[in-house]
Amino acid sequence: MAISISWDSNLYQQSHAFVYQYGEGLLELLLPQSGEKILDLGCGTGELTESIYQQGADVLGIDSAAEMIAKAKQLYPAIPFEVQDGHHFSYSNAFDAIFSNAALHWMTQPEKVIQNIYQSLKPGGRLVAEFGGKGNIQSIQKVLKEQLLQAGYPENAATQVWYFPSTGEYASLLEAAGFTVRLAQWYERETVLQDTKEGIVQWIQMFCGAYLSNIPAARQQEIATATQATLKATHYRDHQWYADYRRLRIMATKPVMKEDSA
Ligand code: BEZ
Repeated sequence: MAISISWDSNLYQQSHAFVYQYGEGLLELLLPQSGEKILDLGCGTGELTESIYQQGADVLGIDSAAEMIAKAKQLYPAIPFEVQDGHHFSYSNAFDAIFSNAALHWMTQPEKVIQNIYQSLKPGGRLVAEFGGKGNIQSIQKVLKEQLLQAGYPENAATQVWYFPSTGEYASLLEAAGFTVRLAQWYERETVLQDTKEGIVQWIQMFCGAYLSNIPAARQQEIATATQATLKATHYRDHQWYADYRRLRIMATKPVMKEDSA
């Protein structure tokens, strides 16, 4: 079942800009060319879509969160943005490239998403993506789940919110769908959280809505505060909060079949 998450697009922009700032490096791997048709899958508030647009590509941004798309349209009115879920979108051989930063881990049925990506790429087209890999934010997730259980919310603790695969697992799914995998790299990227006082609390407020759904606001605050207190020994130093991000970076291409070039 798909989880419905509501997003605070202003908080995202103000306090979680690191999400798209880190994505700038991934654009160097995408190398958008002038005139290329590119899909930005899970575009959020559109900052990286705008960078792709500035490099001369014909880009479309899609995201399943209406709040994010509304903000993206307001910020970048010249660029097309649409509300679309990665599990359900479909274009036929339309794009030279599909780009995705920090989004694929929100899509918990990866086979469906990969199939949609494959169908939507032109033969020879490329997927360039980065998202949470195996072990991503493992300690935050573990402590948050423990706090949910202690507070009497076992169903919330058992929710499957994210998908963090290993390189082998994800490369195998891509190959099974027909892709040629050119790069599959897992790496540790400890990430400084921008709020220096309430870093983990604010991160939970921004990203853990699905774990906290149907819990009264005051209880949510207590659970987030207790999670932060437990993590202080390991995730706070030099007056800064850190999150244990682990990334999976992918580049894969859709092969050109003989009949495509005939
Ligand atoms: C991530 O970018 O890895 C991420 C962000 C929020 C929640 C989970 C993962």
